[in-house]
Amino acid sequence: MNSFNEEIDRHNTHSVKWDHTDDIFQKEALLPMWVADMDFKAPEKVIEVLMERVKHGVFGYSMPTQNTRNVVKDWLERRHDWSIDNDWIVFTSGVVPAIAAAINTYTSKDDKVLIQSPVYYPFRDMIEKNDRIVVDNPLVLESGTYKMDFEDLEQKVKDPAVKMLLLCNPHNPVGRVWTCDELTTLANLCVQHDVLIVSDDIHFDLILKGNEHTLISTLSSEIEANTITCISPSKTFNIAGLQASAIVIPDEKKREQYEDYMKKMGLFAPNALGILGIEAAYTHGEKWLDELLIYLEDNLSYLTAFIKENLPEIRVIQPEGTYLVWLDFRSLQLNHEELEAFIQNEAKLALDEGYIFGEGGKGFERINIACPRSTLEKGLKQLENAFRK
Ligand SMILES: Cc1ncc(COP(=O)(O)O)c(C=O)c1O
Repeated sequence: MNSFNEEIDRHNTHSVKWDHTDDIFQKEALLPMWVADMDFKAPEKVIEVLMERVKHGVFGYSMPTQNTRNVVKDWLERRHDWSIDNDWIVFTSGVVPAIAAAINTYTSKDDKVLIQSPVYYPFRDMIEKNDRIVVDNPLVLESGTYKMDFEDLEQKVKDPAVKMLLLCNPHNPVGRVWTCDELTTLANLCVQHDVLIVSDDIHFDLILKGNEHTLISTLSSEIEANTITCISPSKTFNIAGLQASAIVIPDEKKREQYEDYMKKMGLFAPNALGILGIEAAYTHGEKWLDELLIYLEDNLSYLTAFIKENLPEIRVIQPEGTYLVWLDFRSLQLNHEELEAFIQNEAKLALDEGYIFGEGGKGFERINIACPRSTLEKGLKQLENAFRK
């Protein structure tokens, strides 16, 4: 358990967070608490399996095997109550490229795709960069909790040009783990109006105490056939750099269309270490994951208590899942540029600015708490000092 307290120097590992923050933020000496990976080592056994493979020394072409399919199938059954056929899985080198592939496979130029902002910003980028049109069904913040606006959604799904909805569950950045009722209402509207659901469940193993995650595909066979589910062990076990993910497409015709598109673009399965990463993490990682969740919950309690006591100007939107915390700075009445300058120049922090997630994110910041407690303490102290100045 205490291994999560270890401060690991991640410099000189090509880390986006630790080697590229200066460049990306165009500022020096910011404490990076942004991009969604963790500052922890992967489970020991996963490291061992990868080391053995590296020691083997031959890195020729590789492909997932029946075993790779089975470990994903077992994980979904054991931890997520979803029984799938092993051949429903298409392996990809990441969830972002998989979503881009889905947009290209199932929609055409000028079709409309729904998102629910504030949301993981590559969703909007991928839609727009592929010449599709974003239709936003913004989330609504009510008494500290984000809700879906179903009246608005119902109006928007009726538009025949709307062909797809990108669901984020757990939702990045607001931390909601959508309930069965919410998912059922959303899914029924989509099925009724023939809107394909692409469900990004990449954070689905990171569920905080008292909450329960539901895969939207498990709600009914009709919904299952109308959904593409994107999962990966990358967030769960901190192996995002291995770029390996599994896309579950139960409907045979849709799966063929998707595989055709992948072939057309020359997109192949994950690399040798990515494949092994999936197998090792889902086979050996469960106990580590249970310990990780306790550590993350403790970090969240620490952050919540610290802010309550020392920074009452900030409101913590309590996450139900993920290790990302959405902080409301609107009481400062700064515009988003002023807030960004304050966070970077005064607090010396590199956070994800709320506005990048959509209009409703203005006045918010996203902080990543998947770090040793000492890093979290340091970051919060820097924030407090900036306020006191
Ligand atoms: C909701 C969501 N989807 C996808 C990704 C990235 O997926 P990948 O690294 O597999 O492309 C992230 C990373 O932060 C994310 O938060």
